[in-house]
Amino acid sequence: MAQAGVSNSLLAEALASIARGIDSVFDSLMPVPEDARSGLVSAMRYAAIGNGKRIRPLLLTATAGIYGVDRDSALRAGAAIEAIHVYSLIHDDLPCMDDDDLRHGKPTVHRAFDEATAVLAGDSLLAFAFEVLSDPATCTDPYARIELVRALGQASGSQGMAGGQMMDLAAETSEFDLQTVTRLQQLKTGALLGAAVEMGAILGHVAPEGRTHLHGYARDIGLAFQIADDLLDHEGDEALAGKALGKDAAAGKQTFVSLLGPDRARAQAQMLVDQAITHLSQHGEEADLLRAIARYIIERDH
Ligand code: IPE
Ligand code: IPE
Ligand code: MG
Ligand code: MG
Ligand code: MG
Repeated sequence: MAQAGVSNSLLAEALASIARGIDSVFDSLMPVPEDARSGLVSAMRYAAIGNGKRIRPLLLTATAGIYGVDRDSALRAGAAIEAIHVYSLIHDDLPCMDDDDLRHGKPTVHRAFDEATAVLAGDSLLAFAFEVLSDPATCTDPYARIELVRALGQASGSQGMAGGQMMDLAAETSEFDLQTVTRLQQLKTGALLGAAVEMGAILGHVAPEGRTHLHGYARDIGLAFQIADDLLDHEGDEALAGKALGKDAAAGKQTFVSLLGPDRARAQAQMLVDQAITHLSQHGEEADLLRAIARYIIERDH
């Protein structure tokens, strides 16, 4: 009980601190130009600043923290991966994809601005990520910078998030089995969460052969995270989630919840979190934040 209390306050402080840190990096690196591009950068800031749980930057900085990485470096790399995530949400909400009007309790970018601006804001956030990551201010070691760029590139494109989004659209009209849905979720959500952990290890100069346990941790929390999102969609509170729910069933989308039912999906997510924590057994209290994040992933209400 005492341990749960300690881990809750560790997590609460880490969530508040990462929110401040990421907002500050975005704020300083996205000045609004005084010309016809002002609407574009305003839309990027509208989507990127002051919203979201910042789970990917938190995973990155928590992993980097185990290996003593400089906080500012980790925050800049965290802002890069968060920019990819924010871009993916802007495009995910577009009429040609999920057609959503609400995100983070406010109008989606194409609603607050317009569709063309939303597409361009997503494009620009994608480019921003790689610009920040390849900047020596993020990491002075050029070899590590290239590794960071490669890890984020792989996790974002057709072998990662965008590929998963394509499969997700197909999941509305195809009869996917559990194995295919698992693959879909690993790409759509798991790849970026995995990249967050990987990038923390790269900044920490952990050799690839020393990252195996981190891959195991990331794979398990990645799947658990998407099961939690699907459970929220099925039975969450819209006011807390800040987005429309019940959309997966309405679209006839195959998810863990539609295939397993909510009870078995919840049990599966819990099993994955326990397994994720087991992967960290070689670490002591320096990995407590990663353990607390794993628990939070399925306990969250938004
Ligand atoms: C929502 O991601 C979309 C998925 C990949 C499931 P998050 O739940 O991390 O979104 P925010 O940024 O915290 O709102
Ligand atoms: C979005 O998944 C995943 C990405 C943007 C990569 P969802 O469509 O399930 O996310 P929400 O529920 O709109 O946040
Ligand atoms: Mg979607
Ligand atoms: Mg969506
Ligand atoms: Mg969802």
